[in-house]
Amino acid sequence: CSVTEEQLDPFSLVADELSIITKRLRSVVGSEVPKLASAAGYFFKAGVEGKMIRPMVLLLMATALNVPRHELPTDGVQETLTHKLRTRHQYIAEVTEMIHVASLIHDDVFDDADTRRGVGSLSFVMGNKLAVLSANFLLSRAFATLVTLKNTEVMCVCVLCVYIYIYIYSEYVISLMATSIQNLVAGEIKQMTVTAEQRYSMECYMQKTYYKTASLVSNSCKAIALVADQTEEVAMLAFEYGKNLGLAFQLIDDILDFTGKSASLGKASLTDIKHGIITAPILFAIEEFPQLSTIIDRGFDNPANIDTVLEYLGKSHGIQRTMELAMKHANLAAAAITSLPESNDVDVTKSRKALVNLTQKIITRNK
Ligand code: FPP
Ligand code: MG
Ligand code: MG
Repeated sequence: CSVTEEQLDPFSLVADELSIITKRLRSVVGSEVPKLASAAGYFFKAGVEGKMIRPMVLLLMATALNVPRHELPTDGVQETLTHKLRTRHQYIAEVTEMIHVASLIHDDVFDDADTRRGVGSLSFVMGNKLAVLSANFLLSRAFATLVTLKNTEVMCVCVLCVYIYIYIYSEYVISLMATSIQNLVAGEIKQMTVTAEQRYSMECYMQKTYYKTASLVSNSCKAIALVADQTEEVAMLAFEYGKNLGLAFQLIDDILDFTGKSASLGKASLTDIKHGIITAPILFAIEEFPQLSTIIDRGFDNPANIDTVLEYLGKSHGIQRTMELAMKHANLAAAAITSLPESNDVDVTKSRKALVNLTQKIITRNK
């Protein structure tokens, strides 16, 4: 069948479901304490929801893996199970977004950032204390939703084995999501506590990048596969897609921190280097101009030092090599999708194509 480019646009394929998730998020973060409700709901309000990339990826992944491994008894039962599975997938998408937003709120406290998503950061608008408390509240809400993955009511004996499976794997899903939060925290602490040697190591940078950006999406992609009763092999391909997409995404983010305009990014630019955080473009530039590290080590109390670093970066192939590395990871992500078990199903095929398209969209983005 021929599918138009528009149909393969990753966002439009799941737009309706994303708006269901957006609505659910708004209601799930409510509280009877008005200040808490407005702080926790801050980044879920209309116009501030962000790009919802993670939920989009997870919903597309859910359809991309919709290749049932077992024959299900009757049509009625099959429909109910399919519906229940999709709801579980939506919950994983919702939880992932809550964890992501909680991490951004914490991040803006640590980075003393005034803006996020084109508006004042929560810590700037409501103060650090409310920001941290409401982010903790979001994490707790996320886990409350994860626990509901377990809620199963036995419909009839013939599907009991499916329910037992869901029960066991829901525990595994909760631990995957817990791991991703632990990795977010570990990544942030790694960044805060790098030694002089680690600061200029590409290996340390990539590991931190995995923890801070790729772990959440890779583990949640794996969770999507596991609740769908997929094999460990398929779950690993889903994980590899999320991991490589996340790495490519962050590499581009690190380029945009140098080349993007803060107005279109919705946050300040040049923040990494000003905070002494060394990212891929600079690491590659240092390979060509080792004296750059001595200049960086002087710090940026003198703003002219930033200009010197930018001059070196401009003369080097730092941006280009970072782009090539991002492309390598984008291609690895696409390869994970093309390695999935074959399917002739139209929706499965469309979602897989959209996931592959997304790997290219991510590296050509400018905001
Ligand atoms: C953005 O980094 C921040 C993250 C990707 C995660 C930060 C993680 C924490 C602060 C740990 C606490 C998290 C939880 C869930 C308890 P950035 O500052 O490099 O990027 P930015 O330009 O978007 O600010
Ligand atoms: Mg930040
Ligand atoms: Mg930060």
